[in-house]
Amino acid sequence: MVMPPAIGIKCLTKDFRVSGSKKWLRAVDNLSLQIERNSIYGLLGPNGSGKSTTIKIALGLVQPSLGSCEILGVPSSNPAARINVGYLPEAPYFQRFLTGRELLRYFGSLSHVSSTMIRERIDYLLEKVGLEDAGDRRVGGYSKGMLQRIGLAQALIGDPELLVLDEPTAGVDPVGAAEIASLIVDLKKEGKTVLLCSHLLSQVESVCDRVAIMGRGRLLREGTVASLTKRKDPSSIRIDGVSDTLKQSIETMVKEHGGTVSSPSRSLEELFLELARENEGK
Ligand SMILES: Nc1ncnc2c1ncn2[C@@H]1O[C@H](COP(=O)(O)OP(=O)(O)OP(=O)(O)O)[C@@H](O)[C@H]1O
Ligand SMILES: [Mg+2]
Repeated sequence: MVMPPAIGIKCLTKDFRVSGSKKWLRAVDNLSLQIERNSIYGLLGPNGSGKSTTIKIALGLVQPSLGSCEILGVPSSNPAARINVGYLPEAPYFQRFLTGRELLRYFGSLSHVSSTMIRERIDYLLEKVGLEDAGDRRVGGYSKGMLQRIGLAQALIGDPELLVLDEPTAGVDPVGAAEIASLIVDLKKEGKTVLLCSHLLSQVESVCDRVAIMGRGRLLREGTVASLTKRKDPSSIRIDGVSDTLKQSIETMVKEHGGTVSSPSRSLEELFLELARENEGK
């Protein structure tokens, strides 16, 4: 039997009414995506390109105008689709008077996680997100990055199969961001699927199996990081594993013939900026 994908999005469109006017804004425009299980998938795009709206619709939190979504084979409109999902929203709201530990307990019980499992996971997760010394402090006194970290722990409390993380590194310092990236990679090793929205492109490039780049609600590119960052220039070649001596000889020979030797791939960041500029011009 073929297992359904972690997330399936078909011909999704979402129009919002612009407040105070009769105009409509198309936030997502005929988007189709498939996110395979046990993969790390990056959803990228400039501000306002429709990433969070897509995520909210996929999670059944916002109604689509057209199209359909499924999570682990269950239609997103069915609350059962969210049972095995952990979600870190882009602007999480937490009860300020709870301590980090209490907050994890509270969200765990809201998600019907057993009290034994909650007890077992709290210390583990506080340590995983670097809050082991702040678990007994009230969340109201947490810094921005600390709130992001407790939000991530909250998403992981039920040990879900699918993690949907909308900018998990926003406001997190570089060391913390690197720790979150390695946590995401570990989740994949445990067999989980991660859908990640992030503006940290170098990090996305290093952790994601596939990425989709959105622009004004539309899908601009989709594929593996390697396939998207490959240069299309047919006159360039790539040779891996050459020794320094061989590289020097090749360089000398190529230069003699008027050619140049350089790294053949571009970064995901270069591709992103190129697409964003092109799309702005339309
Ligand atoms: N509830 C809403 N009502 C009206 N318009 C909305 C609503 N939610 C989103 N939008 C609009 O839809 C568009 C897409 O927003 P969305 O939050 O999905 O973008 P995003 O790609 O997540 O951006 P960012 O990188 O800034 O988080 C924006 O123009 C936004 O103003
Ligand atoms: Mg967003």
